[in-house]
Amino acid sequence: MGSVGTVVDRGLEGVVVGATGLSHVDGAAGRLTYRGFDIDDLAQHATFEEVCHLLLFGTLPTASQLEDLTVRIAANRALPAPLLEWLGTLPRDAWPMDVLRTAVSALAVFSPHAGDGAHASNPRAAIHLIAKAPTIVAAWNRIRRGLRPLEPLPNLSTAANSLYMRTGREPSPEAERALDVYLVLLADHSYNASTFAARVTASTRADIFAAATSALAALDGDLHGGAPAKVMRALDEIGQPEAAAAYVRAALQRGERIMGMGHREYRVRDPRARHLEASARALGEVGDRRWYAIARAFEDAASQALDARKPGKPICANVEFYTAPTLFALGIPADEFTCTFACARMAGWTAHILEQLADNRLIRPQASYVGTVAEPWVPLSRRGRPDVAGAPAASRA
Ligand code: COA
Repeated sequence: MGSVGTVVDRGLEGVVVGATGLSHVDGAAGRLTYRGFDIDDLAQHATFEEVCHLLLFGTLPTASQLEDLTVRIAANRALPAPLLEWLGTLPRDAWPMDVLRTAVSALAVFSPHAGDGAHASNPRAAIHLIAKAPTIVAAWNRIRRGLRPLEPLPNLSTAANSLYMRTGREPSPEAERALDVYLVLLADHSYNASTFAARVTASTRADIFAAATSALAALDGDLHGGAPAKVMRALDEIGQPEAAAAYVRAALQRGERIMGMGHREYRVRDPRARHLEASARALGEVGDRRWYAIARAFEDAASQALDARKPGKPICANVEFYTAPTLFALGIPADEFTCTFACARMAGWTAHILEQLADNRLIRPQASYVGTVAEPWVPLSRRGRPDVAGAPAASRA
């Protein structure tokens, strides 16, 4: 065995790999800011469209800038007709994130490109992606239910349209606001895995469509954006608040992780969880109270059990925990939770891609080599023969 260099830290924990002016996570204090604005203020006061402006253009918009961006997003929502037709040809049981990732990649085919195939990576392309992602998700929601996709309505916000394009009914102001708050909270989160994937791809000078597709691919796993569907499954299995502690005990005994708990950066409860918990509770009060009640008991039971396992190392609820009862109460099926996350994060991803390109250097780290060294070359005709040095151990036995 040979080894060159040392691994800084598995999973790059604590390693600073780049700079950003977009968002900051203070994991010890449980604080998240976008361009200096606290997420608590943004969740209370800002709309998703305002946050898109903040991330893409660097400032909160004036009234006329917001109007302009809102009109541009509305004008970019519709999908190219061939893409919509293609969605209609997919197997109805296709995984929604597979559909979204592939469709976002396919958007490049319908966009102008230079002679070398590269698409312009600029705010215009970013708006194109931010506007179209929710239309793709909603179209697939209807197509897989055997329904005709609906045209987006130009007068509705991103949040309202996302719900309207699924049901054909304009959502209540409470439902629209709950989804809007969700989109604001999830819009950016520093160098998380999917954003880093986007920046790595952009750093090769691949374009914004390619980089956004990389981000979508990285988001899908349950250590990142794939967790909330599993939280919903757990809530369903738990069935009633009184059963939460037994569920947690059994899951930990089986060596499983509790989905929606724990975070690489936060050592305290994720600051976004508080707002989503409030949404889940409020939506439950006008709908089905059960899911919030189970989630609350589940969080308490999980925190207690995880604390007992690792005293002094809190594993707290992350953003995905109350995403599950919130999005479910909004009528979004569990297997579309990650897609909804992606629609919010498209704002952060595209802003990071543009930030990367504004001061680009190829991201190309090193690895510590831990394989064998100085192997003698063995001709093909002699490989696997018992007397040949370097032949596979199994064939020498
Ligand atoms: N349930 C049970 N144990 C957990 C846990 C969870 N949700 N999260 C972390 N742990 C434990 C690990 O088993 C590990 O224990 P060990 O040291 O005895 O092996 C320890 O805490 C550290 O875990 P590690 O995987 O090194 O931490 P990380 O920084 O890589 O983990 C997550 C971050 C998010 C991947 C992790 O907390 C997790 O898997 N959470 C569940 C999935 C989830 O909610 N993902 C969405 C994230 S926003």
